[in-house]
Amino acid sequence: MTTTKTYRLTAVAPDAFAETCARVLFETVKNKPDAVIGLSTGRTTGDIHRRFAALVRAHNLDVSRLTIFGLDEVTGVSRDYFGACVWMLEHECVNDLGIAPENFLMLPLTSDDWERDCDAFRAELARRGGITLLELGLGENGHIGFNQPGTPFEQRAFHGRMHDYLEARIRRETGTPDDIPLGGVTLGIADVMDAHEIMLCANGAHKKQALTDALWGPVTTDLPATALQSHPHLQI
Ligand code: GLP
Repeated sequence: MTTTKTYRLTAVAPDAFAETCARVLFETVKNKPDAVIGLSTGRTTGDIHRRFAALVRAHNLDVSRLTIFGLDEVTGVSRDYFGACVWMLEHECVNDLGIAPENFLMLPLTSDDWERDCDAFRAELARRGGITLLELGLGENGHIGFNQPGTPFEQRAFHGRMHDYLEARIRRETGTPDDIPLGGVTLGIADVMDAHEIMLCANGAHKKQALTDALWGPVTTDLPATALQSHPHLQI
């Protein structure tokens, strides 16, 4: 007998996409003012974050106990580069929400000991009660955060290489020469799976194949997002 896996899948018109996702973030904070919410950056999520901040302001929601953190970060770039995840999150919602610096957690842009810094980041999330809700984007090759195809599902937060096309783009935009290393630091797939709830956000025809494979394809490290199939509280 074959079984088809069913998910809490919300399909919406393109203009309602960001608002629908923003409402999930908003409701999470409303129900749990001390929530720990992880955000992904990229083309998919910017508008979600702006609408989330607007909703919070419109409803005068108290976010003084909310923790916001970034799923991943590009490394070797400056903090004020507009492609740095910290810069994006600050400008998309963190500044607007008025999140206190101690409640906005990011993996570092540079480090002399990535293992120590990744462990410290994970420990701080755990100290705050773990991840209430993790918003995920989806790469066209099925990557989540900087967990590229081939990353083991047991992987914890780590620093590694970013994918070639992103590296080329960042070098172009920042004028970083080839001899200066760029990379990516990210929560690992095992950390992602520890989140109490996950909201996977994918928008546009170019994501359709990756999303279909992620949800119904064979579970394989060749497509990191297939790990999500066994998460108990996944909404898409
Ligand atoms: C990047 C980021 C991910 C993001 C993904 C999708 O690689 N490291 O966190 O989810 O790309 O990006 P986009 O929404 O721009 O397609």
